[in-house]
Amino acid sequence: MVHYRELGLVNTRELFQRAMDGRYAIPAFNLNNLEQLQAIITASVETSSPVILQVSKGARQYANQTLLRYLAKGAVEMAREMGGAIPIVLHLDHGDSFDLVRSCIETGFSSVMIDGSHLSYEDNVALTHLVVEYAHKYDVTVEGELGVLAGIEDEVASARSHYTRPEEVQDFVGRTGVDSLAISIGTSHGAYKFKIRDGEKIPPLRFDILEEVERRIPGFPIVLHGASSVPREVVDEINRYGGKLEDTAGIPEEQLRRAAESAVCKINIDSDGRLALTAAIRKIFFEKPEEFDPRKYLGPARDALIALYRHKIMHVLGSAGRAFPPT
Ligand code: G3H
Ligand code: 13P
Ligand code: ZN
Repeated sequence: MVHYRELGLVNTRELFQRAMDGRYAIPAFNLNNLEQLQAIITASVETSSPVILQVSKGARQYANQTLLRYLAKGAVEMAREMGGAIPIVLHLDHGDSFDLVRSCIETGFSSVMIDGSHLSYEDNVALTHLVVEYAHKYDVTVEGELGVLAGIEDEVASARSHYTRPEEVQDFVGRTGVDSLAISIGTSHGAYKFKIRDGEKIPPLRFDILEEVERRIPGFPIVLHGASSVPREVVDEINRYGGKLEDTAGIPEEQLRRAAESAVCKINIDSDGRLALTAAIRKIFFEKPEEFDPRKYLGPARDALIALYRHKIMHVLGSAGRAFPPT
């Protein structure tokens, strides 16, 4: 067992309390590889933002769980060396079983999500409660989920989406003991969130549901998944350089800013990073087909990621300047 404190990581408790009081949200950026991690830490230290390193089950398999632990420890030391001792969380995204959660906690995760949103309500309560009981013994914080997001991703698939039912949240939070709650208010996973025809507008998020949730569990940290904005210019750039992405749109940034000022304390962004990385690599492969040194295309891709994360932190989540010395 390697406890997360030995790695210099923190759980989400104080971060969410401060985010709630300060009306901003903590960025949760997904990562699978070294360049994404370097970019997340660089942008977070440069903007002095707390940050959540978010790892899915698939990402953990891809990166190797042992290597990941040392990468997280290295990220803490890298931030210190850069002169910014920012709070860093290592979080399991969409945990789907008790065994996966236990394994993550044993290898240094400081926060876990147990996603029982596809189960019946009672089964979701039971599984989430089991995870909370175990995680809290190690002071690991737990995110649960109520409501089902639309969208399909490798390990996160849902054909049957439905909004969170506000009348369930108080009972769920009370019976499970979770530390934060992911809700479904119109976001979805992946790059294909909305197909908008000319003259149509992106349907707004259901802020009425969010407000009703806030009324029923005041001051409780809420999480927004599926929060990429899928910028048109990045999709166009990918296609200009040989990509074949369909017409698509994501969550407008002004809606995310509004969410960040509410009880939403954590905003999950994965697809926007994938798109930025892909656009940068495709451009170089197109313009310099003779290039074959990975540093020559992964380096610029990392720079594009740094710019993206910096933008999100400063202009969408509002977490810039909110770092505090981790204890
Ligand atoms: O919400 C899901 C994340 O984007 C992770 O996706 O399972 O393909 O790593 P993944
Ligand atoms: P996006 O696909 O919108 O980036 O959402 C990521 C996410 O919710 C990770 O859990
Ligand atoms: Zn998600």
